[in-house]
Amino acid sequence: MSDSIFSKIESILEEIKSANPQDAEQLENFRITYLGSKNILKGLFSHMKDIEPARKKDFGQMMNELKTTAQGVFDAKNTEIKNASRAESKNAEDYSKPPFPEAVGSRHPVSVVMNHMVDVFQRIGFVVSEDREIEDDWHNFTAMNTPEDHPARDMQDTFYLTNSIENLLRTHTSSVQSRVMTSSKPPIRIIAPGRVYRNETVSARSHCQFHQIEGLYIDKDVSFADMKQTLLYFAKEMYGAETKIRLRPSYFPFTEPSAEMDVWMGTETEKTKKLTKGTGWLEVLGCGMVDPNVLTNCGIDPEIYSGFAFGIGIERSAMQKYDIGDIRMLFENDIRFLNQFQSAL
Ligand code: PHE
Repeated sequence: MSDSIFSKIESILEEIKSANPQDAEQLENFRITYLGSKNILKGLFSHMKDIEPARKKDFGQMMNELKTTAQGVFDAKNTEIKNASRAESKNAEDYSKPPFPEAVGSRHPVSVVMNHMVDVFQRIGFVVSEDREIEDDWHNFTAMNTPEDHPARDMQDTFYLTNSIENLLRTHTSSVQSRVMTSSKPPIRIIAPGRVYRNETVSARSHCQFHQIEGLYIDKDVSFADMKQTLLYFAKEMYGAETKIRLRPSYFPFTEPSAEMDVWMGTETEKTKKLTKGTGWLEVLGCGMVDPNVLTNCGIDPEIYSGFAFGIGIERSAMQKYDIGDIRMLFENDIRFLNQFQSAL
């Protein structure tokens, strides 16, 4: 009986010594067979009682040898296989290979134009001031001298939030004017780029969401001439050094006097003719001297301070710059359309 157990041990020892697991899976099988919680060595131990007393010591030693040999083979193979797979993954990262053609993102045309405009005003000391798109009625309308029966408050123009006429989606970035004037003291010199919303039918020419840049400058002795010079500088930076502008009298509840600024495009080409409806002038922004009522509403003394404000539409400029015929393209996020602006700043 003892002999057969001893020869079994011998053959298992040979088995272990000649085992040659090649990969992680084979190695795991080896571990389970010889070192795992139900390994075959444990089965052999149960034969201890059948061994004659004189050979029990030998048995113990051989069992020990089995175990240490199995552990030795496992450790050696484990390092070998790990090293091999590490070398393999190193080969996969060949840094000398030419780069895989990665898709590079591009800026949205609205962002390109908006960033450019912001940069132009920052150069002459305007500071960016952004604020919320969900506004209250007071900051969007009341503070901005817009009487309660003003058509701009009409349900058709303004998106009011459900069950409330107190909260709305701002209809213009002029709401940032009242936010800034009520929270800081003059001198104030800010621009406020951002998205605005109007409850309008979406078409090729108009959308229910678009972008504006608001400008506000308040200090002692700010005049209409200061505004004109600032806007002329802006126009020349955007449209070229030879650019001509004109200020047309207009009306906004929050400015007095109010004006609209046109930029001369000319009527030479079909494109400019179409863009300017044959007049040669492109309307670019609304502006004016801040109405004293607005200053008073926001806690600024109109006897001491005066200022000007302007609001520039972004989409119109972007469409003109990139020859985009339909405003809806700017909001559809169609990759085929956006991919064309890869080289834009
Ligand atoms: N808020 C006006 C608009 O949305 C633009 C404007 C801003 C006009 C500031 C004058 C002064 O049309």
